[in-house]
Amino acid sequence: MRTYHLETLGTIEGVVPRETARPEPGPREILVRVRAVSLNKRDLLIMKGTYPLKAVPDVIPVSDGAGEVVAVGGEVTRFVVGDRVAGTYFPNWLDGRITPALLDQPGVTLDGMLTEYARLDQEAAVRVPDHLTWEEAACLPCAGVTAWHSLIGGEPLAPGQTVLTLGTGALSLFAVQFAKTLGARVVATTSSAARADRLKALGADHVVDYVRHPAWGSVVRELTGGRGADLVVETNGPDTIEQSMRAAALYGQIVLLITGNPRRPGIEISHAAYASSLATIRRVFVGSRAHFESMNRALALHGTRPVVDRVFGFGTDDVREAFSYYESGAAFGKVVIRVN
Ligand SMILES: NC(=O)c1ccc[n+]([C@@H]2O[C@H](COP(=O)([O-])OP(=O)(O)OC[C@H]3O[C@@H](n4cnc5c(N)ncnc54)[C@H](OP(=O)(O)O)[C@@H]3O)[C@@H](O)[C@H]2O)c1
Repeated sequence: MRTYHLETLGTIEGVVPRETARPEPGPREILVRVRAVSLNKRDLLIMKGTYPLKAVPDVIPVSDGAGEVVAVGGEVTRFVVGDRVAGTYFPNWLDGRITPALLDQPGVTLDGMLTEYARLDQEAAVRVPDHLTWEEAACLPCAGVTAWHSLIGGEPLAPGQTVLTLGTGALSLFAVQFAKTLGARVVATTSSAARADRLKALGADHVVDYVRHPAWGSVVRELTGGRGADLVVETNGPDTIEQSMRAAALYGQIVLLITGNPRRPGIEISHAAYASSLATIRRVFVGSRAHFESMNRALALHGTRPVVDRVFGFGTDDVREAFSYYESGAAFGKVVIRVN
């Protein structure tokens, strides 16, 4: 079978294919024939060696993948051959709060999904909704679960409250879809008129151009009759936190998602922005298996489909092109690799 490995860190040329024997599942493991994987910011950072966790030598990259169970170990009770599954982002975080002992992740400290066959502990996978294609199902484990957890993990959103999303990264698009599912009104920001139309088509009630309106925090306040956003899905951090604070409702929640990177500037909030509300800054690290399962129930109930921008092939050039295309920032939605 074909498997990719992170042989050297720094550039995409460090991602190299190998032919290896198809593995056998251990007693409590399932063997998944991977059908599709999707890329996240962390996969780029890991490949470059700038992610907070260092990749173990030769690790199989990429956290997110979906496929079909083709073999199960003798003690497996959660799955049968033929089940459609995705691996979870934190294989050991099943429910409740994360602890330092649960931080292992595929694609960095554990082997990931950029492979034809993946061996997973039976606890480290979930069934994916029937209505999703393989490519759509592969979008869920990181960006999908993070967006879902951001919206449901804190104080519950009341119907009609306002969620603010920033830009058109894949995580923000999931947040727009899920906020609508949860009955919220959505204000989204973008710098592009074409993307504004696509955000509206996805369900955003209002779209604010953050370049034309550098003080977009006050525009969000105006759009909400002076109340502000009850929950901000804060995906940019240093560049946007000031306006996010100004956009927040008196007791708003700001879910700060940026990945900590010592090479990036820290986050500064002016006194004026700090004093403008009593908002809480909450942090989220993807989510547990329980978050994934509750998100899947919502996806299935509402027939929601992740936004897929482009699907690449599994050849070496295709895989490297997928990473480069993702890095270019041109995508509106997820960048997917189909594993043939
Ligand atoms: N904590 C966690 O568990 C977790 C999990 C997953 C991801 N993350 C982090 O969440 C972030 C989002 O990831 P992503 O892949 O969805 O998106 P991304 O690629 O980081 O988002 C890019 C988009 O943000 C918008 N943007 C850029 N500068 C902006 C600014 N100054 N003001 C407003 N919007 C701006 C742009 O939208 P337009 O082109 O529309 O203008 C751009 O397309 C990343 O930093 C990622 O590392 C965290």
